[in-house]
Amino acid sequence: MQDVVAWLKENGRLKIIDEPLDVELEIPHVAYIEVKMDDSRPILFTKPINRAKGIEYTMPVLMNIFANKELTEKIFGRHPDELAEGIDSLLKLKPPKGLKAKLAMLPKLYSLKNVFPKRLKGRGACQELIIPKAEVDLDSLPILKTWEEDGGAFITMGQVYTQSLDGEMQNLGMYRLQQYDKNRLGMHWQIHKDASHFFDQYQKAGKKMPVTVAIGGDPLYIWCGQAPMPHGMFEMLLYGYVRNSNAKLVKSITNDIYIPHDVDVVIEGFVDPELTEIEGPFGDHTGYYTLKEPFPVMDVESITMKKNPVFQATVVGKPPLEDKYMGWATERIFLPMLKPMAPDLIDYNMPENGVFHNLILAKMKTFYKGHAQQFMHAFWGVGQMSFVKHAIFVGEDAPELEESQALTRHILNRLDPKKILITQGIVDHLDHSSDEQFVGGKLGVDATGEEVNDSVQEALDDVTLLEKFQAIDSSIIELKQYFTDTKNPICVISVNKTKSVKDDIEKIYTLQKHIKVLIIVDKVNNDIEDAYMLVWRVVNNIDAGRDVMVEPFIIIDATSKSEVDGFTREWPKDTLCTKSVLDTLQAKGLIDIDEAFIRKFGLLDF
Ligand SMILES: Cc1cc2nc3c(=O)[nH]c(=O)nc-3n(C[C@H](O)[C@H](O)[C@H](O)COP(=O)(O)O)c2cc1C
Repeated sequence: MQDVVAWLKENGRLKIIDEPLDVELEIPHVAYIEVKMDDSRPILFTKPINRAKGIEYTMPVLMNIFANKELTEKIFGRHPDELAEGIDSLLKLKPPKGLKAKLAMLPKLYSLKNVFPKRLKGRGACQELIIPKAEVDLDSLPILKTWEEDGGAFITMGQVYTQSLDGEMQNLGMYRLQQYDKNRLGMHWQIHKDASHFFDQYQKAGKKMPVTVAIGGDPLYIWCGQAPMPHGMFEMLLYGYVRNSNAKLVKSITNDIYIPHDVDVVIEGFVDPELTEIEGPFGDHTGYYTLKEPFPVMDVESITMKKNPVFQATVVGKPPLEDKYMGWATERIFLPMLKPMAPDLIDYNMPENGVFHNLILAKMKTFYKGHAQQFMHAFWGVGQMSFVKHAIFVGEDAPELEESQALTRHILNRLDPKKILITQGIVDHLDHSSDEQFVGGKLGVDATGEEVNDSVQEALDDVTLLEKFQAIDSSIIELKQYFTDTKNPICVISVNKTKSVKDDIEKIYTLQKHIKVLIIVDKVNNDIEDAYMLVWRVVNNIDAGRDVMVEPFIIIDATSKSEVDGFTREWPKDTLCTKSVLDTLQAKGLIDIDEAFIRKFGLLDF
């Protein structure tokens, strides 16, 4: 990380903040705001402190390493599309015919020699200092508390290395880790993740599970940790491929898990399969708090580190965040790996305001009726793609998937209720909208066909339409229509909700000739002029099976749910900054934001 810091000074316009700042809220707030800027930069906090605990840390905190696309590309050394092309050509390797073809294939095969991690003998640079169990104190690490209502401090860029019970499979996953006290960490590996599958094996065998958490080193390690590699494939293979250089691993001091030799901090320990502890709440990358839930706990056996370590961390919350750029690289690099199951897929895009698993846009060639539906089922059935709640498929004549305005127009001109598929499947562990945790509604839109003929029968301006709505229901406060030049304009209304939207929904049917698509959001904390955050809110809040109606026109109830809706789970709060912290940082000149910025990104209640 010291090398990374030096490299970022040269290549990444690193911001350095020497002012002492608290790991509780202050440092995270600065990083959170920075990454929302158009031209965001990585930041090194050289003097982290914890006022409540009276600690001045010896190691600096480095944040927003993946601060923008340009920097992300530099970290990879190549454009992610270029890496994807390489993977594509490897997946298409065919047995060569003839000597010439064999010789032509050699460089490709030769490059694969760098994919496999190498196990080094002896100690690594990450083991220059060894802190034995009796002296372990997690308080020596500048672990951040991001949000006021977080259940504590969390390691947010931990590389979690685990292995299967028989030692045959190794895994690297990026999971957050709650600090409980001086020597215990919560293991937030979600139910569908590889480390959780390994944990099940140890639990069945009644054996303690070794875990080693690494922090820092090459930034690609952490990117590999979040990459959705197929179960059983060690992420360090991907590292070797991207770097074109084998990952070099050393054995942990107190268990048999191998970790990169050059990470900054290593926390080794064992997880007791019989014990869990309440983890959370934690303001998550969905922009909502994840609620309290029991998770396994690691007892720390030893901490090792470099002589001058740098502590790497990230902030999650409402988009855009650092995971926008990590996710962009993932999306590009994994495109060729989706193609074997969906060969006519041209491209896909997971917009960051859809927090990745809540919205996917995909472009494909269609050759037969139902082709798009076939791909929807394929996506919902494979690996982490199966967490996707809403999938919209367009044909090859559609605009580029990142051209959001043109693409939305294209989709709305082809939106046909008969080609909307609503089904059920697994949802992300973090999803808060489904009636039952882990399973929920899926929505697939097939917009691959021709333009539809039907449009709004009698278009009205916003003011007139709002009056008509208010005559029906006085809890409707605001209205805005988007894309009125398309066959399916979107009408957004905000409500002061006191009862279920469904209670009187039939009354709204009388407006049928004026509306094609109606989206209902709460008045509180939603700005109906802010399409970016509306998309974030809507795809987060809906369970398609419950909240999307297609007759007599499309109605989407994106309000928060509660007992009035028959919703029995706890509905989580938005992640919000702490106003006093924003004020202090602004007064010190460490952030520079105005009311419009605060509202635009939903930093505070409004
Ligand atoms: C910033 C960030 C934080 C994450 N936190 C968690 C987490 O706490 N728990 C989890 O299961 N996945 C988390 N993930 C997602 C996993 O890293 C991702 O699903 C990864 O592919 C899991 O690896 P695995 O399939 O080897 O388990 C996070 C991802 C990012 C980018």
